[in-house]
Amino acid sequence: MKTKVICPGSFDPVTIGHIDIISRASGMFDHVIVAVLNNLVKNPSFTTDERIALLKQATKEFDNVEIVGFDGLLADYAKKRGVNVIVKGLRAVSDFEYEFQQALTNKKLNPELETVFLTSNAEYMYLSSSMVKQVASLGGDISSFVPQCVHDIIIERLK
Ligand code: PNS
Repeated sequence: MKTKVICPGSFDPVTIGHIDIISRASGMFDHVIVAVLNNLVKNPSFTTDERIALLKQATKEFDNVEIVGFDGLLADYAKKRGVNVIVKGLRAVSDFEYEFQQALTNKKLNPELETVFLTSNAEYMYLSSSMVKQVASLGGDISSFVPQCVHDIIIERLK
């Protein structure tokens, strides 16, 4: 049986830490659906279309990766797509509590759903989209934080 997984997130904007997780998932599973949350509670800096376009550009080398937007509950979207595995990156202890809470909530909502955590590459443990936004908006260098192919677009939007 082919294993389809979902990598969900805000991706506001994509970082090289996200790409590391997507790339590793792409090597482990047959099909990876990168699902970009549309109805963000927090005000996103990039629209859903922009976040999707950046991800498409940054993952175009991976044949088995699909980028989509989704609304509502992840558990419902996974069921709709016939997916039973969520893949998430886990950076540090500070991520753990919230990720654990999300995994258990998703399991309660859809008992067939398993969450698999990939430990972040040690090089990217500190990296987050909010840190990228703060550094870029204050004129700092984000070239080692975001995929090179989308660096200029991100800088242009955040400066
Ligand atoms: O990149 P993030 O902010 O860690 O991603 C969080 C995301 C999008 C995976 C999470 O907020 C989510 O799944 N939202 C959809 C709404 C939902 O299903 N909520 C209940 C489980 S948390």
